[in-house]
Amino acid sequence: MKFHKTKELKGELSVPGDKSISHRAVMFGSLALGTTEVTNFLQGADCLSTIDCFRRLGIEIKNGPEKITIHGKGLDGLSAPSSILDAGNSGTTTRLISGILAAQPFESVLTGDDSIKSRPMRRIMEPLTMMGADIVSLNGNDCAPLRITGKKLHGIHYRSKVASAQVKSAILLAGLYADTVTEVTEPVISRNHSEIMLGTFGAKVWTKGTTAFIEPRPSLKGAKINVPGDISSAAYFIAAGLVVPGSDILIKNVGINPTRDGILKVAKAMGGNIELLNVNHVGEPTADLHVTYSRLHGITIEGDIIPTLIDELPVIAVMAAAAQGTTVIKDAAELKVKESNRIDVMVEYLSSMGCCITGTEDGMIIEGGRPLTGSIIDPHADHRIAMSFAIASLVAEGETEILNSDIVSISYPSFYSDLRNLYG
Ligand code: S3P
Repeated sequence: MKFHKTKELKGELSVPGDKSISHRAVMFGSLALGTTEVTNFLQGADCLSTIDCFRRLGIEIKNGPEKITIHGKGLDGLSAPSSILDAGNSGTTTRLISGILAAQPFESVLTGDDSIKSRPMRRIMEPLTMMGADIVSLNGNDCAPLRITGKKLHGIHYRSKVASAQVKSAILLAGLYADTVTEVTEPVISRNHSEIMLGTFGAKVWTKGTTAFIEPRPSLKGAKINVPGDISSAAYFIAAGLVVPGSDILIKNVGINPTRDGILKVAKAMGGNIELLNVNHVGEPTADLHVTYSRLHGITIEGDIIPTLIDELPVIAVMAAAAQGTTVIKDAAELKVKESNRIDVMVEYLSSMGCCITGTEDGMIIEGGRPLTGSIIDPHADHRIAMSFAIASLVAEGETEILNSDIVSISYPSFYSDLRNLYG
């Protein structure tokens, strides 16, 4: 798809439902007894992979236009899959479902696309094996495909080296089936959607500092879940509104959970005008975000804030390229093991657009303020890279072409039409 520099972006939009919360609603609804109804579910390819896996495990899931309905069968209601489980491109599906499969009285094989088959799974294999699970990487490279043979599990206290909600959630889900309380301590707190939603379904989950605890064998009951708009999807429009001169955008009903809101803090620290309207603190907090064009300046982004904006760092790099001065991103080595190596890909293609950017071991250094020019971008089959460069193209002279641009359907199928609607 081809893009050109644009005049101001104006109008309002609602971004689709949160990806992390949508996955969890399907998974936890499947393990709960009774009916779960989910509204504003993200119809992205990743979440559809989660639905497909749970259907193969014997759960009836109706994906209707207004809501999805899950007929959960309780903690012991899954049945042996008739075929290989395919998580597609979804790391969340792969890692979270592994925690569930580790405790089932049957064997499963879990695979995904080429990206999933190269992403690190040792991080979940290690703690789940400590709990008693039998997980084998079939290619012997600590990646999918995984053969998971369910076992009786015991509670552990796991100290994770990485701040990862996928790792934490896999262990907590296995902890539902353990013999004693399970604890996970993270170096820095990661997104806490599992803790919140497991509580909604009736699990006993609590936290102390950066440790999450779960009691085994709760009776989970079906619930109604309304998924807030995804702040990771809103991030592209936050960035667009801030960097395209004259812009004025209202993004409605965005999740602003404090374990996810680092983009708001960073945008403000860079000098961005973002106003939070209609703030609602019931359940997962939400707000409407009013974003207007701002003269951004570079900052240093490091430490505890990183897990709260890990998926937004590619588009933050675009904001940094448009800002005056230097932005330093540190403590973000996790970027190398996402859907692509997001440090290498951002450095390669922002450089190709004329930005002065250097990759480091755990981040990037961006000298902002140079004019950008159009380029040909290969997003390396990474949805967030494609959307980040669509935003960069809006301030670049000439034409930008994004190859394989429909990869955005992983997390935001209507991204290009939502963007076009703001052109005026
Ligand atoms: C997610 C956690 C994060 C994030 C991913 C979704 C989740 O991954 O990058 O897009 O839903 O738990 P990590 O847990 O690997 O940091």
